[in-house]
Amino acid sequence: MSILRRCCFGGVLVALGQWALAQPQSTFDTVGPVAEMQLDLFMLTFWLAIGVFVLVAGALGYAVWRFRARSQDARALPPQTHGNTILEVSWTIAPAILLIVIGIPTVRTIWQLEQRHFRDEEVIEVNATGHQWWWAFEYPDLGIVTANELHIPTGTRIHLNLRSEDVIHSFWVPRIAGKKDLIPNQDNSLWIKSNEVGNFYGQCAEFCQTAHAHMRFRVIARPPEEFDAWAERFGEVSSAPQQVSSNPLVSQGKELFKQKGCAGCHTVEGYSEGKVGPSLTDLGDRTTIGAGILPNTEENLAAWLRNPQALKPGNYMPTLWREDDPHANEEIEALVAYLHSLHSNGRMALQDELHDMHEETAWR
Ligand code: CUA
Repeated sequence: MSILRRCCFGGVLVALGQWALAQPQSTFDTVGPVAEMQLDLFMLTFWLAIGVFVLVAGALGYAVWRFRARSQDARALPPQTHGNTILEVSWTIAPAILLIVIGIPTVRTIWQLEQRHFRDEEVIEVNATGHQWWWAFEYPDLGIVTANELHIPTGTRIHLNLRSEDVIHSFWVPRIAGKKDLIPNQDNSLWIKSNEVGNFYGQCAEFCQTAHAHMRFRVIARPPEEFDAWAERFGEVSSAPQQVSSNPLVSQGKELFKQKGCAGCHTVEGYSEGKVGPSLTDLGDRTTIGAGILPNTEENLAAWLRNPQALKPGNYMPTLWREDDPHANEEIEALVAYLHSLHSNGRMALQDELHDMHEETAWR
């Protein structure tokens, strides 16, 4: 291989590596202390493993070269040896030392990730519940229930109480923390913190049947003031009595929400109390629908209502209109208008974010 070719090949490898490390779900591009500690542990183990590989492969290569057959008579068996006390002792002790070197920081990290050691610090409590195939996020102290988008302030520790309503799921936000299982009848917990503002991708990391790969979520980290404003507005909007909208389309959608049975499965605080599907209280404020699979645009929401199975096969949302229903388009338009009117004061900010997401979510 010519030097030029080698350089090109090396350049392509480096570029590919950098591209892979900069993806939205890269565990190497950390933004919080939990992911950082986990990465440190990985790097320590990685470099020790590289050291072991170089030593073992080097010894093997040396032996193959040094003791190769050099002439015809070398086909006879070389003198056989059995046991070498110094070697036996050293390759018993060396791995033990290595395991201790890896074991001590591992145990220390596990210890640090246990949330009970931080009881005195101010934390935000969130009950994160896994469902097939979406996430419920409840802030018991703030009186907020939302779904699929976990809002957090930067620099603040968040205690997650992980539970499941059905099968085992796993909470994983690669750039912030990973992973901990949500197990039915078993309370698990995890703390997370983000040092950076951003919209971080999360993913269920335990196979939980049909739509497992579509059980995504977002962690939206903002400065504490903005988080407080969000929480306050959430409380105000949700507790305000549901008013009659001046937009007839929204009023029609609101009626349809009950007529078509949406209200039986979904909560809109102050209007419906369904618990089967995700809460829609702040749907107009969300960046995604279908548990993180699509940007929350009018077209996507309409397509989702028309045929949820086409976009996310296996999910439990029924198709509400027959293929030839003449009212389908008009009713869907009204429902979209109603759903997007919920907490809609967030929608202006949302539009910018949607623009960025369109660029970003091509990997879907
Ligand atoms: Cu939930 Cu996989």
